[in-house]
Amino acid sequence: MLNGEEGYAVRKSMEILVALGDIYGAKELIKVGSVQVAGVSYHNLGDAGLEFLNELARDGKVRVLTTLNPAGMDLENWRNLGISPEFAEKQNLVIDAFKRMGIVTSCTCTPYLIGNLPRYGEHIAWSESSAVTFANSVIGAKTNREGGPSALAAAFVGKTPNYGLHLDENRVPDIQVQVEATLTRLSDWGALGFAIGKKAENKIPYITGIRDADVDQLKSFCASVVTYGAKPLFYMQGITPGAEKYHPPKDSVSVADSDLKEAYDKINDETGNIDLVCIGCPHCSIKEIAEIANLIEGKNVAANTEFWVACSRAAKQLADQRGYTAIIERAGGKFACDTCMAVAPLKGRFKSLATTSAKGCFYSRQNGMATKMGSVEECIDAAVTGKWS
Ligand code: F3S
Repeated sequence: MLNGEEGYAVRKSMEILVALGDIYGAKELIKVGSVQVAGVSYHNLGDAGLEFLNELARDGKVRVLTTLNPAGMDLENWRNLGISPEFAEKQNLVIDAFKRMGIVTSCTCTPYLIGNLPRYGEHIAWSESSAVTFANSVIGAKTNREGGPSALAAAFVGKTPNYGLHLDENRVPDIQVQVEATLTRLSDWGALGFAIGKKAENKIPYITGIRDADVDQLKSFCASVVTYGAKPLFYMQGITPGAEKYHPPKDSVSVADSDLKEAYDKINDETGNIDLVCIGCPHCSIKEIAEIANLIEGKNVAANTEFWVACSRAAKQLADQRGYTAIIERAGGKFACDTCMAVAPLKGRFKSLATTSAKGCFYSRQNGMATKMGSVEECIDAAVTGKWS
């Protein structure tokens, strides 16, 4: 493969994997059950990235189930989200290259909700940080946080170098986090991720004190904890499969209500007017879309504000069936399938964002927006009034 006997894409991929293996001292390559590729938005790839993908697509075919992270636009309704035809043309070329490689162009950061679901202990090569954290910590699969090229390389070869979080000795928790805070709203899980991310400082947290958590709360927490500082792996006592194998580490910190308040204070900017409300970072589940429809029914989004629901196309199809799409669109909301507030070309278009997501705030600040994080109810109130109250 490295000699090029299986073509250009495989040779390039092997060069990447061998280089990575050498850097990290891997002794072998191991099979992966699936791949998830980030680096899909033309906004981030540019023409150089598109050219790189087109070269690989000449003879590259993936060997395992491979899905995509969000693109820079809704692949069907991009006009509705204010995307330019020039951008759409380039983004479609990117998607076309991935299609020719045999990749499922699912364009979502929640692959585990749409059919790319690894099993406990399975080795995979995923890129999206929130999904990597979810796979490692909620499912108990094993993956490093891949870059876009190294994930693609694993897809063409069907293997990845055996290092980092693929090895059990690197998956041992090294800081205990005792959660004493009360978690009531979805955004509290983002605030908790912020607090633990800061306190864990690139360690692997062993979290105690949480009695219950649903998938939506966990995906929100995963996105936040890795964005704000921890490794893409944690153990939550009673929730992470295999957590019982470990004793709580001696090094220990706690998270109280005051830490959550501090997280909100750091994430929230001074801003009153809101011109974009976006829920769905990570992408909304059908349960979250149902909640949004229930809360917005009969209301109207303010004239100078946009309200986006970011989700996978598969989740939207379920929402269509259940009538949630019609309710949200009747209120003036828009679906942003296949994309998200971080990877769409939004810089300069909006001044201030309201969202339920701590990670969404992090990236929207980089896009020059002032940010407010709160509950689904508070976000819908901001969409309807155009203000954060
Ligand atoms: Fe997903 Fe985009 Fe958030 S990729 S986790 S919706 S920043």
